[in-house]
Amino acid sequence: MQTTFKIRRFKPADLEQVMHTNRTCLPENYSSFFFTNLYERFPATFIVGEENGKVVGYAMCRIERGIPSFKIIGLTKKGHLISIAVLPEYQRRGIGYAIMREVMQATLLYEATECFLEVRVGNTAAVNLYKKLGFRIARTKRRYYVDGEDAHLMSRKLPFTSKETPR
Ligand SMILES: CC(C)(COP(=O)(O)OP(=O)(O)OC[C@H]1O[C@@H](n2cnc3c(N)ncnc32)[C@H](O)[C@@H]1OP(=O)(O)O)[C@@H](O)C(=O)NCCC(=O)NCCS
Repeated sequence: MQTTFKIRRFKPADLEQVMHTNRTCLPENYSSFFFTNLYERFPATFIVGEENGKVVGYAMCRIERGIPSFKIIGLTKKGHLISIAVLPEYQRRGIGYAIMREVMQATLLYEATECFLEVRVGNTAAVNLYKKLGFRIARTKRRYYVDGEDAHLMSRKLPFTSKETPR
């Protein structure tokens, strides 16, 4: 299918559409302050997908300092994916993948050496998306979500390798 969507950074005027997408797609919802605060702290890693001027998907990320997963010593910066969603009628067209690629690329601006995220173990679509982006399951967090479902902790090293070509 021909791609007609555009991937770009979030801007404050997108907030309502992003919150609508979040509420439509996920049980984990956040206040407007939460979205705005992440944008103000890490503007480059808050990305939206737009189709005909309408925001139809988003992802946002926090840069954290922690123990590296892929080497032995020191501390490192990591991109922590906080939330991603694409409106149901726009799913399966490559928008989620393109948004994630852009988010991961943007974490490099903050000197991240890896990316990680939590995902419901039963969320096959998201787990497959992350695997396609090079993430692997590092471990499983028991009863991570308020409804009792477990989460996979998935991570991958950055940057992209020269073998990883854009879709
Ligand atoms: C997960 C989500 C963001 C994927 O967005 P998307 O735009 O539909 O994803 P893409 O079209 O870019 O798909 C990329 C890959 O993800 C996987 N994938 C996406 N949807 C899938 C599905 N329904 N079933 C199985 N695999 C799926 C596939 O590997 C796909 O590659 P392919 O099309 O070559 O097979 C979307 O399904 C969504 O918003 N879900 C609800 C919110 C959510 O669960 N967020 C994640 C919380 S951790």
